[in-house]
Amino acid sequence: MFRRLFLIAFLLVPVLAQAESGLDAWLRYAPLDEAAARRYRDAVPPLVVTFGNEAVIQSAKSEMLRGVRGMLNRNLRAEARVSSEAAIVIGTIAQLRQSAPQLAPAGSLEGDGFWLRTVRINGVRSIVVTGETERGALYGTFALLRKIALGESVTDLDQKEIPYSSVRWINHWENLDGSIERGYGGRSIFWENGKAREDLSRVSDYGRLLASLGINGTSINNVNADARVLTPEFLPQIVRVADTLRPWGVKVILSVDFGSPRSVGGLTTFDPLDPGVIAYWKNKADDIYRAVPDLGGFVLKADSEGRVGPSAVGRTHADAANVVGRALKPHGGFFFYRGFVYDNRMDWRNPKNDRARAADDNFRSLDGKFDDNVFIQIKNGPIDFQVREPASPLFGTLEKTNQVIELQITQEYMGQGRHTVFLVPMWKEVLDFDMRARPGMATPVKALVAGKTFGRPSGGIIGVSNVGLDESWYGNHMSQANLYGFGRLAWNPDLTSRQIVDEWTRLTFGDDPKVVETVNSIQLSSWRTYENYTGPLGLQTLTDIVGNHYGLAVEASERNGWGQWHFADEKGVGMERTVAKGTGFAGQYRPEVAKMYESVESTPDDLLVFFHHVPYTQRLKSGKTVIQFLYDSHYDGADAVAKYVSDWKALKGRVDDRRYAEVLAQLQYQYGQSIVWRDGVANYFFKMSGIADTKGRVGNYPGRLEAEAATLTGYAVRSVTPPEGASGENAIDCPVATGCTVTFKYAGEPGWRDITVRYFDVNSGTAKYRLKVAGQLMAEWTATDRVPTRRIDSSSSARRVIEGVLLRAGDEIQIEGIPEGGETAGLDYIEIGG
Ligand code: GCU
Repeated sequence: MFRRLFLIAFLLVPVLAQAESGLDAWLRYAPLDEAAARRYRDAVPPLVVTFGNEAVIQSAKSEMLRGVRGMLNRNLRAEARVSSEAAIVIGTIAQLRQSAPQLAPAGSLEGDGFWLRTVRINGVRSIVVTGETERGALYGTFALLRKIALGESVTDLDQKEIPYSSVRWINHWENLDGSIERGYGGRSIFWENGKAREDLSRVSDYGRLLASLGINGTSINNVNADARVLTPEFLPQIVRVADTLRPWGVKVILSVDFGSPRSVGGLTTFDPLDPGVIAYWKNKADDIYRAVPDLGGFVLKADSEGRVGPSAVGRTHADAANVVGRALKPHGGFFFYRGFVYDNRMDWRNPKNDRARAADDNFRSLDGKFDDNVFIQIKNGPIDFQVREPASPLFGTLEKTNQVIELQITQEYMGQGRHTVFLVPMWKEVLDFDMRARPGMATPVKALVAGKTFGRPSGGIIGVSNVGLDESWYGNHMSQANLYGFGRLAWNPDLTSRQIVDEWTRLTFGDDPKVVETVNSIQLSSWRTYENYTGPLGLQTLTDIVGNHYGLAVEASERNGWGQWHFADEKGVGMERTVAKGTGFAGQYRPEVAKMYESVESTPDDLLVFFHHVPYTQRLKSGKTVIQFLYDSHYDGADAVAKYVSDWKALKGRVDDRRYAEVLAQLQYQYGQSIVWRDGVANYFFKMSGIADTKGRVGNYPGRLEAEAATLTGYAVRSVTPPEGASGENAIDCPVATGCTVTFKYAGEPGWRDITVRYFDVNSGTAKYRLKVAGQLMAEWTATDRVPTRRIDSSSSARRVIEGVLLRAGDEIQIEGIPEGGETAGLDYIEIGG
C-alpha cells in the first residue's frame, strides 16, 4: 500500500530537469513526456536533408538535429539529397527547385517569410521547410521545432508566415571596454578592453536566440558612439563579430559618431555639406562594406544629450542623414537617424517649454526631405521609456519619410531586471494605438512604422536589448520574456500578449498547468503592478532621473533642464500640455487624437497627469479622487507583488531548483522594493497635499520601530536624501570599524512573530548583521546584493525577514552591524508582524 502510494505520488510529480541556468532561454528543447514523444516520433521523418554549405542553412540543419535530439531523443540522419525515404527537407525555394523539384512549392514568398508543408509522394510523407531566403528557411526550422515543443500537430502542415515588416532589429548600448550603458545582465558579450572578446561563443548563442524570433540585425556598440569604431584599426574587430552572427542571419549595424570626420578622420569639420566630409562618409562605407559586405547599416544619435549633430554647423537633420545615407546606399545599407533629439537644458520656469514636443518640432518640417534608405528611429513615447507614455505624435506626422519604432527591452526605467515587468502589454498598447493619420482607414502605430499606411518602401521595429554575460542574459529569468515578446511582436504585432507569454512560459518552464497559469498571470499583470507603485496616472516613473534611473526620488525630475517634470505642488499635480492652457503638445497629434487629449474628460485616466495639471481632488472616471487613487494604487501594487511571492512559492518542486530559487529571491527583493516605493511616494503626496488617506494607511505602520528612535551604541542618525528613501526620512549608520548596535524594545503581545529588518545594502562593501532576541542569536547575514548605488537611499534599501520568533513583552531585539569596505551597516527600521 505504502509502496503504491509512493509510486503514485512519484508519478504525479513532474520529472524535472536538473538545475537550469537560463542560458538556453526558450530554446531548451526539454524532453517531451513519453506519450507526446511517441506521437512526434511517428510524425517526424528520420532524415534531415539540406543542400550545399551555406552557413545559415547549416545552422538550420544543426538546430533541427539539436531540437529533435533534445525533445524526442532521436538522432536524425543528415543527408545532402532527397531519396525515396521520408525526410525533413530544409532549403530555399530556389534550392528546392533545383535539387528536389517535386517538393518545391508553386509561387513565392515575400522577404524572410517561411513555408512549412507536408508533401506526400508515393505514400511517403516529408516535411518541407522553405523560404525565399536562407533566413526564411532558418526561421521555418525554428517555427517547426517550436510547434513540437508546444505540442502542436506537425502531420498536415501548410503554414506560410510573412513577417509584418522588414526591419526587425536590435540595438545594443555597449561600450568598447565591455561596460554597457543601461545593461543589467553583466558585462558585454561583444567587447572587452577595447576589442572583440577572445571567446565570442556567447555572441553565437545570442545570434541563435535572435534567429529563433526572426530578428535579422543588431547594432553592436553604444548609440553614444565611440568614434574609434570607424577607424581602420578597429575594422577587424567588427569583422569577427559579424562572422559570428552571420550563420544566424543576423546582420551587424554600427552606431556612429557624427563628429567622426573631424575627430578620427583628420578633417577640420564634420559639416555634412563639405565635400571632404561627403567623401569621408563614402570612403568609410566602402571600406567597411569591403570587409563586411552584408552590414545592415549605421545608426546615429545626433544633437542629443551632448552628442554633436548638424545644428553645430548650421545644417538640418535631413542634410546630415542624407549624406551618410548616400554613402551606404550603393551597398544596400540603411541609415537610422534617431528621433530622440531634445534640449536637456530647458528652463522649467517657462510654462511653454516641453520636452515631449521635441521630436515632432524637430522633424515635422523635414518630412519628405530624407532619402529612401534613411529612417527616423522614434522611441515609443515622447519622453524616454517611462512606465507609461502616450505614443509619440511623430508616428502620425511623418508621411513621406521612413520610420521605425524604438522599444526598450532592457528595463532602464522599469526595475532594471530586479523587478519583473513584462513589457509586451505596454508595447502592444502603443503598436495598436490608432493615430488617425489617414481618413477612412485604421492607422495604428504598427502599420505606420511598417510603412503600410503611407506606402513607404520599408520600416519596422527596433528594440534596445543590452543582454550581458550573465547566464540568464538579463539578470532575471523572467526578463527573458521581454526579448522573446519583442521578437514575436516584430514578426507579428497582431499576436496577443497572452499568446506570447503563454508560448514563452511553456517553452521556458515547461507545460505543468499550474506553472503556466502562475507565470502567465504574474507576467501579464506585472506592468500594471510596477506602474501602480512607481508612477500611475501618467506621472512617469518617479525615479532618480538624474542618477541611476532605479530608486525612488519623486522630485529628481523637477526644477532641472531635463524636462521630465510633473509639477507636483500643494494643490495638484501634472503637466499642462493642452493647446488651450499649456505647452500645445496635445496639438501635435492629428485632430481626433488631439481632441481626446485636449480635455480632462476624454483623456484616459492612465495618462491624466501627463496631459493635464489637475487638483488632487479631481475625480477620475471611477469617481475616486486623484490623491486617493495615488494612495490606493501604491498599496495595490505592493500587495500584488506579495501575491507573486506566495504564488511562486506554490511552484516549489514544479520548476527546477535553481531557477525556482533565483526567481523567488528576485520576487522577494521586488516585494521589499515595492514597499519602499509605496511608502515613499504615498508619504510624499501626503506631505505635499495635506490630504489624508481615507483608509488610514499612509503614515501609519503598525509594528514598525524606527531605528533612529531606538537605543543606539555607536550608530549615528543620518538624514536620507531624498527623504522618501527611508521610513521616517532618517536612517542610522555605523562609523565605528568594529561595529555598532541598535536595541529595540518589544512592547506588544507575547507570541510567535516575524521580524522584518529593513537595512541598506550598498555596492561598495559587505557589511555583516547579527540579530539577537533577549541575547540569543536568531539570524546573521551579510549585505552582498548587487544594487546600483553606493549611497544609503531607496535603491540600497534591502529587507531580511526572520520568521517564527517567539517574543515576550519587554524583550530586547538587538541588531549588531559591522561595516566593511565602504558599507556602513545602515539600518532603517524593524517591523514586527505575524
Ligand atoms: C536614455 C538613457 C541614456 C541613453 C538615451 C538614448 O536617456 O538614459 O543612457 O543614451 O536614452 O536613448 O540615447
